[in-house]
Amino acid sequence: MSAQLIVALDVDTAAEGLELVDRIGDACQWYKVGKQLFTRFGPEVVRQLKNRGKKVFLDLKYHDIPNTVREAVRAAADIGADMTNVHAGGGAAMLAAAAEGARESHVLLIAVTVLTSMDETELASIGLAATPREQVLRLARLAQRNGVPGVVCSALEIEPLRQACGPDFALVVPGIRPAGSATDDQKRIMTPAEASRLGANYLVVGRPILRAPDPAQAARDLLAELA
Ligand code: C5P
Repeated sequence: MSAQLIVALDVDTAAEGLELVDRIGDACQWYKVGKQLFTRFGPEVVRQLKNRGKKVFLDLKYHDIPNTVREAVRAAADIGADMTNVHAGGGAAMLAAAAEGARESHVLLIAVTVLTSMDETELASIGLAATPREQVLRLARLAQRNGVPGVVCSALEIEPLRQACGPDFALVVPGIRPAGSATDDQKRIMTPAEASRLGANYLVVGRPILRAPDPAQAARDLLAELA
């Protein structure tokens, strides 16, 4: 099955975001609401997306004590999120608590492993003697063992994660660039078709769609490339 597209609503106002959603129309079902939009507009923007029949990935990357994270995941489900995420670095007890909150409230829980902004030197500076890839695999396995059914990963990690975590583990992949589009600040990029073929379940795409002259057409083109 080909991967599903999630459009990242990385914009400053809810009006701007919703206008884009309306322009894209039926071409895309999933939208990602992150810290930028949520901090300004809160649950209302999620509600507006749900009113339009959309699915919402609430990307707030929780990282706190187990009880707080369990309740935050429940709250995310309560306001309408279909997918949400936690930092795997919060540890086994936190992951298990988050997974419990997600199972009870039917939201798809995804773990963030190593931020793509961190390299080996940065990992060493916080006391981790591992390469980013080793740490990604370690945290993905930890997440899986504690009941979290998927991770966010770069396109280059799809294959090793599929091998390590099996066919049912959800892989959510940003850094996707349609053939011939600008790379922006993304370094580890891949085309939608390639990422899907390697086994990504969801592709998170922002600027190639948001900044296209016709975002709806860009979304349709990307979906055509996937199919
Ligand atoms: O505009 P672009 O397609 O690069 O947007 C990708 C989206 O995925 C952004 O919302 C970005 O924050 C998010 N993301 C990422 N790399 C990660 C995790 C999330 O680009 N490792």
